[in-house]
Amino acid sequence: MIYSSLAKTTVLYRMKNRASRFFGPWGVFFKGFIKHPVMVGSIIPSSSKTVKKMLAPVDWDNTKLFVEYGPGIGTFCQPVLDRMRPDATLLVIDLNEDFIDYLRKAIRDSRFIAVHGSAADVNDIINNFGFEHADYILSGLPFSTLPNNLGPVIAAETAKAIRPGGAFLVYQFRARARDFMAPHFRKIDTGFEFWNVLPCHLFWGWKE
Ligand SMILES: C[S@@+](CC[C@H](N)C(=O)[O-])C[C@H]1O[C@@H](n2cnc3c(N)ncnc32)[C@H](O)[C@@H]1O
Repeated sequence: MIYSSLAKTTVLYRMKNRASRFFGPWGVFFKGFIKHPVMVGSIIPSSSKTVKKMLAPVDWDNTKLFVEYGPGIGTFCQPVLDRMRPDATLLVIDLNEDFIDYLRKAIRDSRFIAVHGSAADVNDIINNFGFEHADYILSGLPFSTLPNNLGPVIAAETAKAIRPGGAFLVYQFRARARDFMAPHFRKIDTGFEFWNVLPCHLFWGWKE
């Protein structure tokens, strides 16, 4: 009797552990969306096809600093770290402190820095960490729902932060993100990923 109730408890404990491991990051993301729907802008993280397509044109051999805006629960972080040189840095910036706390615990890699802050302050943030420029900046920000004048400010600060030859990588459900990029990037390559919730537009703005 004691043995069977102990076995039952162990099985239940294991199932709960497995479920929380499975739903863990998604739960954090969903909670983030419920708390700040406009700021997060999506209910489901990006698909692996989006990640692969977005990162494909990056020249990893010449990347020392890769910056990501709005990493959420880090859908792009491990794929970026997997491709990066051993001496490169991935610096992520998110306004949501819960996501930053989660990432600091989940990603144990000496090349990884997570900053709680706004993408609008990218130049101050990278300077504080001793960098003059970023090679690439990736954005998962919901550009079309950002408050006030924030979209144009972030686009201008981003153009200032990226070195010549580097690029601004943007994925968005709406093609409007391109309007924010256009004043600062003369060459913008475009793509589309259907296998994403929702299907999304991809843009690569190249710095001259
Ligand atoms: C659609 S989620 C992107 C999630 C993740 N990158 C993915 O692909 O699954 C947008 C993220 O942008 C963050 N965000 C919104 N405004 C921001 C800002 N001004 N600066 C930095 N992050 C911001 C949100 O907190 C959220 O994590």
